[in-house]
Amino acid sequence: EVYASSVQEKSFIMIKPDGIHRGLIADIIKRFEAKGYKLVAIKVMVPSKDLASKHYEEHAQRPFYPGLVTFLSSGPVVAMVWEGKDVIKYGRKMIGATNPLASTPGTIRGDYGIDVGRNIIHGSDSVESAQREIALWFGAGELAEYDLAMGKWVY
Ligand code: PPS
Repeated sequence: EVYASSVQEKSFIMIKPDGIHRGLIADIIKRFEAKGYKLVAIKVMVPSKDLASKHYEEHAQRPFYPGLVTFLSSGPVVAMVWEGKDVIKYGRKMIGATNPLASTPGTIRGDYGIDVGRNIIHGSDSVESAQREIALWFGAGELAEYDLAMGKWVY
């Protein structure tokens, strides 16, 4: 297959409680789906404080860490794994910058977010964090392996 080896990259993408309460689930999924990425795992859950702490553990020394952990575990999230060529980097581009003033219109944060503490969505920032986050949020058996019929028109 021409494209098979190039589409294996996976990213952990999570709609945070503010995104869910604001009714943005469908809009966000639509953007990733329409781009051509493949959804291989999805679940709704209220993360425990322990899970939220582990997710953000690299930021444990930052002043915003306790608030961020409390926020993430305060309500439902939609945890997803999307697969596709360069989905980690381009997924971040679709999400937009962390700094609200820098997030461009057309990105998810640019279109819907105003405050850095309420920025709707998380996306892995590297191959290593993607692997760590996917393993943290999903069991091995929870990732679907399948051919997306649309795939041959995307690649
Ligand atoms: S950095 O400096 O690049 O490491 O920071 P960054 O990766 O942009 O941010 C790490 C995560 O912390 C969130 N964040 C904040 N939350 C609340 N308040 C403040 N001030 C704040 N600053 C950063 C940011 O959204 C990142 O979380 P995710 O979920 O990955 O977006």
